[in-house]
Amino acid sequence: MKNHFLSLGLTCAVLMSAPAMAQTMPAPAMPAPDALYQSFGQKAGIAKVIDNAVDRWMADPRIKPFFKDTVPQRLKFSLTEQVCQLTGGPCAYTGQDMKTAHAAMGVNKAAFNNLVEGLQLAMDAEKIPFTVQNRLLALLAPMNRDIITVR
Ligand code: HEM
Repeated sequence: MKNHFLSLGLTCAVLMSAPAMAQTMPAPAMPAPDALYQSFGQKAGIAKVIDNAVDRWMADPRIKPFFKDTVPQRLKFSLTEQVCQLTGGPCAYTGQDMKTAHAAMGVNKAAFNNLVEGLQLAMDAEKIPFTVQNRLLALLAPMNRDIITVR
């Protein structure tokens, strides 16, 4: 009988302390892996930004010649997929790697910067917060090494 009460007491102590432990757990140090994807408003939010950006690029006299043979819907599809994956979303980019896609296009630093500027304007237009914009730009910036072929 004595043992029975002892074990009941222990069980109660464990059960009662469990929620208390959960409350004192420290907040996770790392943001969720899809935090940036969520900040963009998931795939629909990304698609809106890309739609806006591609339209700007194709109308920008400084870079529109690059896109003279481009089917906008195809490029929008690829870029949305790419940015979805890059920001941690549940997508798998199925297009070409950046080196292959931009080989022999003759992209220089100025053209790259012009394109990024169009993307920034598109993100502004879609009310993407500045810090969120910068996080995407930081992921895209290193790609310049594969895209810029004219120094
Ligand atoms: C960080 C910058 C850039 C990213 C992330 C990017 C991304 C992409 C992607 C994902 C594709 C589609 C590839 C495929 O579907 O296989 C593509 C194609 C293309 N990109 Fe870029 N790109 C960038 C910079 C540039 C620049 C600076 C230019 C020229 C000013 C450019 C011009 C093009 C063109 C003309 C195509 C081919 C579109 C077509 O299929 O007709 N890109 N790019």
